[in-house]
Amino acid sequence: MTTGKNIALEFNDFSKNYTNDMIGCAPHYLQLVSSFVKSLPDNFKPNSILDLGCGNGNITAQLVSYFPNAIFTLVDASSEMIDLCRNQFNDYDFIYSNMYFKDFLFNAESYDLIVAGFSLHHCDNTEKQSVFRDINSSLKKGGIFSYSDLMITKTNPDHPMLLKEWGKFVNNNFPDGKKWAWVMEHYEAFDKPTDYLVQIEWLKNAGFSNIQIAFKKEYWVHLQAVK
Ligand SMILES: C[S@@+](CC[C@H](N)C(=O)[O-])C[C@H]1O[C@@H](n2cnc3c(N)ncnc32)[C@H](O)[C@@H]1O
Repeated sequence: MTTGKNIALEFNDFSKNYTNDMIGCAPHYLQLVSSFVKSLPDNFKPNSILDLGCGNGNITAQLVSYFPNAIFTLVDASSEMIDLCRNQFNDYDFIYSNMYFKDFLFNAESYDLIVAGFSLHHCDNTEKQSVFRDINSSLKKGGIFSYSDLMITKTNPDHPMLLKEWGKFVNNNFPDGKKWAWVMEHYEAFDKPTDYLVQIEWLKNAGFSNIQIAFKKEYWVHLQAVK
């Protein structure tokens, strides 16, 4: 049950079988995860990387194999997700912040690359725009912000069709219907997705340029923007 929970507690529970649940519940999840490395310019070699809403570390795991010497900072509200990352990356000297984005200190000009996989749809419109500004100020000049998410506003006329297709996908993977019921309960309580075209405008307003759609299937989208 999601009633009465906050994001941190919800994802403490979700952490138990996270990757399998995401593969079965989020269409194109693995393609969106691999897009983080694939979409970077060939000559881009980040020394400092910030992962916002790192979860169990699937995005960082992709990046660290390409950039093993970079300094990684991992932020997540869920202590259990942070613990999974500490275990998985215990050979690395990573920096961990178990906190909400609104409490994280976005130091100016500190990162070459900031990533967020499926985490920003938990922020409302005001917080998303504020986080975009924080991310922009925290990137070094020429730095890249790269993030994937469900990017459709719940009032978009395509939203009912999106839910129908999404439900088919989840029920195909988990035929007893319980998982889809849980996904919808979570979606109602915690998810505030925004259309990708709106987010592109907000990225421009936050100071980004060269905004690219690195991956898009229906409204499952990966955007990349340069400071
Ligand atoms: C769906 S998971 C994504 C994990 C991983 N990035 C991935 O792509 O699989 C979202 C994560 O973001 C975290 N999160 C959501 N909203 C947050 C916020 N406002 N501040 C900090 N962490 C947040 C959750 O705790 C959760 O671990």
